[in-house]
Amino acid sequence: MNRINIGLFGFGVVGQGIYKVINRATNAHAVISRICVRDVNKPRELAVDPSLLTDDADRILDDRNINLIVEVVDDAEASYRIVTSALRRGIPVVSGNKAMIARHLPELIELQREYDTALLYDASSCGSIPVIRNLEEYYDNDLLLEVKGILNGSSNYILSRVFDHDEDYQSALRRAQQLGFAESDPSFDIEGYDSLFKLIIITVHALGVYVEPERIFTYGITALSDFDIRYAREKRMKIKLVAQVVKVSDDQFTMFVMPEFVSPSRYIYSVDDEYNGVVIRGECYDRQFMFGKGAGSLPTASSILSDVMARRHGYRYEYKKMEYVNRPDYTTDVTLEIYLRYPDKEFLDRIPFISIGEMFQSAEANYVKGTIRLKDLIDVRPLLDNPEVFVCNVPRFFLELDD
Ligand code: HSE
Repeated sequence: MNRINIGLFGFGVVGQGIYKVINRATNAHAVISRICVRDVNKPRELAVDPSLLTDDADRILDDRNINLIVEVVDDAEASYRIVTSALRRGIPVVSGNKAMIARHLPELIELQREYDTALLYDASSCGSIPVIRNLEEYYDNDLLLEVKGILNGSSNYILSRVFDHDEDYQSALRRAQQLGFAESDPSFDIEGYDSLFKLIIITVHALGVYVEPERIFTYGITALSDFDIRYAREKRMKIKLVAQVVKVSDDQFTMFVMPEFVSPSRYIYSVDDEYNGVVIRGECYDRQFMFGKGAGSLPTASSILSDVMARRHGYRYEYKKMEYVNRPDYTTDVTLEIYLRYPDKEFLDRIPFISIGEMFQSAEANYVKGTIRLKDLIDVRPLLDNPEVFVCNVPRFFLELDD
């Protein structure tokens, strides 16, 4: 087999991990031929031969010896330019950039077909857990009912530190940044957008349907307060930031990202720190659970290596489910049960609950628990960006056949 000559874009936490992992993986017969960075003179922890470094993308894209691009740059626009240029030149790409992939997936699929090349991105979702390739190859969408889990390591790390170690939120966030889990703009992690991007990619491979990010309810843990934490603890539950795509009937599914009360009987209850956990539920097999490190240099690099090896064997995603005649439609016309901490009656009156089952008022905080249509929650989404407000899902099943 020919040697894989990699042109690497990005040499931050993940890029340096890839360098280490590729150099250890002798069976990959892969070498990093050149590394494109923004600043070649920037001091780096990992010493590499300076002649490998360039700040000129074309030195990689125009190099005919390079037969695989690995792209792990931080900036989604730069990532888009690199990936689309490479695909248009017929060079296969391995990418970890979930924000870019989630926004441009339909076009990226088209480019792969038009230029007869491949884009692999298992590293984009859940770090070291091989969720994309498994959904693509193993799970047909007829039997699949739900893919649900913790898809963001940083927010889970913060929640674990806060719940299990009584650490304060801000110092836990700083630690997630120091440990290299968080995005350069950590609001993507804690406001749920990183989970959203991964969920969009997962949904394409789970159900064969692409849904634009703007159409999906996304709400994070920014406003989580001591009151909410105490409330969950008293009920012996944890709060986790959960992303889910779930069938609500034979021909419809819904999806959203929001904090959720998780009881000890659930698999994801014990997914802590930077770990991710994905529960796949199906009609005939009930639940399966995938667990592993979802962020960090070497776990993410291991997933990149797996895609590099997959390319060695000519693997590409076929997006078979997107061709199916019967694909479920996305709907937000479903009823959720939520906990809402709110500042005052005037605010509560603006939230179109269907019914309220529990109500609490005190000098410290007020909350209600009640049912609401997801589409109505989307309409009032801008109101929820308020430190005096916190929304948390009370999980319930959508399909009659469920327990
Ligand atoms: N910031 C991301 C996370 C990195 O915390 O999960 C891995 O995608």
